Amino acid sequence: MNLYQPYLMRIEEIIDETPDVRTLRLTFKDQQVAEQFAFAAGQFGEYSVFGEGESTFCIASPPTRSEYIECSFKATGRVTKALRRLNVGDTMGFRGPYGNRFPLDDMKGKSVVFIAGGIGLAPVRCVIENVLDLRGEFKDVTIIVGARSVSDLVYKHKLEEWGKRDDVRLVACVDPGGQTPDWTGEVGFVPSVVEKAAPSPDDCYAVICGPPVMIKYTMPVLTKLGFPDERIYTTLENRMKCGCGKCGRCNIGSVYVCKDGPVFTAAEIKQLPPEF
Ligand code: FES
Repeated sequence: MNLYQPYLMRIEEIIDETPDVRTLRLTFKDQQVAEQFAFAAGQFGEYSVFGEGESTFCIASPPTRSEYIECSFKATGRVTKALRRLNVGDTMGFRGPYGNRFPLDDMKGKSVVFIAGGIGLAPVRCVIENVLDLRGEFKDVTIIVGARSVSDLVYKHKLEEWGKRDDVRLVACVDPGGQTPDWTGEVGFVPSVVEKAAPSPDDCYAVICGPPVMIKYTMPVLTKLGFPDERIYTTLENRMKCGCGKCGRCNIGSVYVCKDGPVFTAAEIKQLPPEF
């Protein structure tokens, strides 16, 4: 099969998460492909609109819910704008899964703290739901989620669901000024909210994704709390095109984000060339 030949997908559902973030729930049109398809939390795909091109997003739904895959995106360019014009029942393309994965097996028996800002919750959500679907195999689960404003919080229905669970500690925050009169969560920037929440680093992995500035200021907080760089994981997106190590578009020095990543530890990120 041609490496770049996409699977045909049917749009089953469209969810508007925020004024500018949309989620598509997709199923494979070919039943045999659907049955054989497998992926791991952290992997990504190339999503296409015929005649327009492809765009790279993580798979936001967990591998434990294999009847469909979901992707979430902002309409920022030609392909994402075209994606926004599609309707339920329409056909689009998907290639993947590509890239490495979060170390779920290593995390088993340990606690996990998830930290996400804005649409950075999409890749983190995949791991969160993967962990929650196997909840008995993990210790404490803490989820810290931030956005600029209440209306910018993605997956509000998920946040509500996680917030109701007594085996999950959920801390949601919005930037100062982004709160509404009925907002009951925290008001503050993610790094200071993480510091205040102070998750214990004992036997614990951290998974973090969000805007670069959020990651930049949250990493030192995790270090201060006692998380070693080897147990802090993040995921990068870097000008991907082919998704599978062929085009040379995604490299940072000698590292190919599409093949060696997109999941990296903080220790690995510190080894990347300074331009990153
Ligand atoms: S996206 Fe083509 S080599 Fe990584």
